[in-house]
Amino acid sequence: MRMRNKNQKSSAFHCSAGTRCSVSLVLCLVACILMVHFYSLIHQNDKGEIHIDSSHLSVTRELEEEESLYLPRPRGKKSPRALKRRGPRKLPSMVNEFLDESSELHALFFPDRKSAIDPNKKGNDSRFYYPGRLWLDTEGNPIQAHGGGILFDERTETYYWYGENKDGPTYHAHQKAAARVDIIGVSCYSSKDLWEWTNEGIVLSGEGTNATHDLHVSNVLERPKVIYNDKSGQYVMWMHIDDANYTKASVGVAVSDSPTGPFSYLYRIRPHGFESRDMTIFKDDDGKAYLIYSSESNSELHIGPLIDDYLNVARVGRRILVGRHREAPALFKYEGTYYMITSGCTGWAPNRALVHAAESIMGPWETMGNPCVGGNKIFRSTTFFAQSTFVVPLPGLPGSFIFMADRWKPAELRDSRYVWLPLTVGGVADEPLEYNFGFPSWSRVSIYWHRRWRLPEEWRRTT
Ligand SMILES: *[C@@H]1O[C@H](CO)[C@@H](O)[C@H](O)[C@H]1NC(C)=O
Ligand SMILES: *[C@@H]1O[C@H](CO)[C@@H](O)[C@H](O)[C@H]1NC(C)=O
Ligand SMILES: *[C@@H]1O[C@H](CO)[C@@H](O)[C@H](O)[C@H]1NC(C)=O
Repeated sequence: MRMRNKNQKSSAFHCSAGTRCSVSLVLCLVACILMVHFYSLIHQNDKGEIHIDSSHLSVTRELEEEESLYLPRPRGKKSPRALKRRGPRKLPSMVNEFLDESSELHALFFPDRKSAIDPNKKGNDSRFYYPGRLWLDTEGNPIQAHGGGILFDERTETYYWYGENKDGPTYHAHQKAAARVDIIGVSCYSSKDLWEWTNEGIVLSGEGTNATHDLHVSNVLERPKVIYNDKSGQYVMWMHIDDANYTKASVGVAVSDSPTGPFSYLYRIRPHGFESRDMTIFKDDDGKAYLIYSSESNSELHIGPLIDDYLNVARVGRRILVGRHREAPALFKYEGTYYMITSGCTGWAPNRALVHAAESIMGPWETMGNPCVGGNKIFRSTTFFAQSTFVVPLPGLPGSFIFMADRWKPAELRDSRYVWLPLTVGGVADEPLEYNFGFPSWSRVSIYWHRRWRLPEEWRRTT
């Protein structure tokens, strides 16, 4: 029997709005927790070296190549430019170092082109994922597919990776605005093995001239996701559409007859009449699809089914994780249970991931804790300095998934990196719920840190 967490507030939309915590209070709490982690880390290791814990479940042993990572000690000084960019918000020192492009640690988080993952250089490094390194496509250009997601197209037996092309200059629209890149469009890359990616070009382009168009370059297009509609035979893309100040807070819909586009933009909506910012879509085994979006000033998530053609939301929707201030949702399903990874809301700065689980996709959703394992405390409390975007199922490897995240670089967004790591569902949750009398009731979801890892050989032969 599963005990329900009584803190879980989940209500249909006709109910009154849920509680709202102060955003700054939450940010302060997160910052304090991270500071504590950071200090304990320094005190533990006077040499300033951090060793990766590589004790894992047996299921991932075959996924990994174990290696050690050494982090040098951070410097005390910060560049004035970095201080200015960050503004008044207090962040833990290691996150400051990460955001400071003049820091000695910068190259550790954003290694240069020499170490890039290059599918044209086969050999010992072939098919290894190196989270955070530059990742080149088959033409030798860095992959531009940020905030993305992956569609496995059964008709072509090919994986398609869709994401934001951010290959333009980063700037601030005005003093208080977040760092941005003008809309270029949604990129698409294709692959048979999830490692070697061919650029299929921009499948939905920004609009250069019509300033009133949603896709005008001055607006915001984030987190594009594509699913296939078996009934209409169309590929349907959903994305976050906004203006530079994030006041439009809508979702956009586009369709195509081909996974490689071009996609035709249809319209933007406010789902169920609510604000929608970070979002994702999820297609269930039964062909029903769902939209999940951050709403009410990002204080809660909403979830609701799409109508049959996937071009709009159905009327029913539910509030979930009310007052929790979560964004960047990534959904997946295993053995009939739904799981969702989310991040906190700290702009481009990384924070702690949480995993949630539900027996019914419409909720109630229960929070299980931080899924990140290995690395060190500061890595685990910053989602390995990245933010969730998608979870890819691996057919033939039950319980194994790829966790996809973005390591954002607010000073130069086009140089943001991809952090792909093995995710497994198995074993017992190590953070028992508050109201379950100490008995963990869900399988543990674990995202394991690896400097370098690859999928097992057998997996490629069977796909
Ligand atoms: C590749 O691996 C082999 C066998 O482990 C090793 O002898 C060789 O030095 C490696 N080559 C490079 C370039 O690392
Ligand atoms: C500009 O975009 C708006 C909104 O999509 C549209 O209604 C209008 O017809 C477009 N104007 C031109 C000249 O294409
Ligand atoms: C965004 O906000 C700034 C400052 O508050 C304002 O000057 C600007 O007109 C706004 N832009 C849009 C697109 O709303």
